[in-house]
Amino acid sequence: MNLADPLSDLHPRVGDAPFTRLVDSFYAQVRTDDLLGPMYPDDDWDGAHHRLLGFLIQRCGGPDTYSRERGHPRLRMRHAPFAIDSAARDRWMQLMNTALPESGFSDADIALLQAFFDQVATHMMNR
Ligand code: HEM
Repeated sequence: MNLADPLSDLHPRVGDAPFTRLVDSFYAQVRTDDLLGPMYPDDDWDGAHHRLLGFLIQRCGGPDTYSRERGHPRLRMRHAPFAIDSAARDRWMQLMNTALPESGFSDADIALLQAFFDQVATHMMNR
């Protein structure tokens, strides 16, 4: 494990299942969310699920399927088409914070993931 990056051994420790449950629960909420739902491609929820899941598994020390399919993440650039203000950022975090305790990660791992999401979500703001 890389001590400078506590997420780097998360997937090797816990495997796919909690990540899959996390993304399932998150997108189940996003789909019907008045603010975030309309931003996502209505005909490609499975694709959005696949991309976020692949990214998270890779970021947490798992297989690099995401980058083999999509290239470098460049998340800020990929989010540029969406108007992400503080309200959108806060809603994304709210839905993720609801999904996390339902996913089967330990409390310590939830805290690690929350800190990571919090930082990246702020970085995605473009309004
Ligand atoms: C701050 C609020 C955020 C909003 C409103 C937002 C919204 C979106 C939308 C609308 C998409 C397009 C869905 C698709 O077709 O894949 C997307 C993609 C994605 N988002 Fe976010 N997002 C946010 C934060 C985050 C955060 C914090 C992360 C990671 C920690 C993240 C990771 C991703 C990834 C990996 C993709 C797929 C990129 C690709 O390969 O095309 N997003 N997001």
